Amino acid sequence: IDESTPTQTLSSRTLDGLAEYLKSGKASRIVVMTGAGISTSAGIPDFRSPETGLYANLARLNLPYAEAVFDIGYFKENPEPFYSLASEIYPGKFRPTITHSFIRLLNDKGLLLKLFTQNIDCLEREAGVPDDKIIEAHGSFARQSCIECKAAYPEDDIKSHIAAKTIPRCYECQGLVKPEIVFFGEQLPAAFLESRMVPMSSDLCIVMGTSLTVQPFASLPGATLPYTPRLLINKERVGNLGTGTDDVLLLEDCDSGVRKLAEACGWLEELEKLWAET
Ligand code: APR
Repeated sequence: IDESTPTQTLSSRTLDGLAEYLKSGKASRIVVMTGAGISTSAGIPDFRSPETGLYANLARLNLPYAEAVFDIGYFKENPEPFYSLASEIYPGKFRPTITHSFIRLLNDKGLLLKLFTQNIDCLEREAGVPDDKIIEAHGSFARQSCIECKAAYPEDDIKSHIAAKTIPRCYECQGLVKPEIVFFGEQLPAAFLESRMVPMSSDLCIVMGTSLTVQPFASLPGATLPYTPRLLINKERVGNLGTGTDDVLLLEDCDSGVRKLAEACGWLEELEKLWAET
């Protein structure tokens, strides 16, 4: 792909080709890979966008470096910054976006093989994507436990601590309690490690709203077979998307990109209705 090709022309030509492929029923084992960019229109900041990203706005927490807020070593010494942030991003007050509903629509049509998400906001679940189709590569707020003895901790109790801006401690050993979000320095969930070859058996890969900067998630789009079409819907080019012969780039907002694809497939009305009910 030469940089001089205006991506708009490229995407409109090949987007129609991709829609034909989808409508033909040949794409029935779709893997979707997502990051924080699919939740920004729900009001949850992403991490690395220059102005609005979380890492650009953590100065008030006096961190040694931005990602320390999600570093297990730093958390053990200073759990306060994470818990201060947790009160802003804890699930329950955000509505899934139409992009989340698009993933749900793929599943309703029997086309979703697996969703790999880096997000911890549980919005895919709230949009109606079934649990067995979701791989939360970086964990989520769905459960919390003691980082020392691993004892589970009640959801209601962590919610009241987060609201009161106090630090929850394990009832068994007084260790620090943490939501089961994967911090830097922690082991990735077994479910993710076991599913890393799933993209090889897909017939379409859709990557949305991620900078593809964090490994091993960032390697997932490269785990598809060479001729599996890949679609990137993202504000900027990321990873090696665009270099494959069957790659399609929609370098724009996720919500407008999924609407464009749905319209090309004749699914837009169905998608808008599904989202309106979410
Ligand atoms: N539409 C399309 N793209 C968007 C939108 C949007 N509305 N908003 C943001 N983006 C793009 C940004 O341009 C960027 O390329 O989404 C990407 C978001 O990248 P990051 O902020 O790095 O988020 P993510 O890729 O999910 O981060 C990965 O880093 O800190 C860790 O564990 C954390 O899971 C997170 C991981």
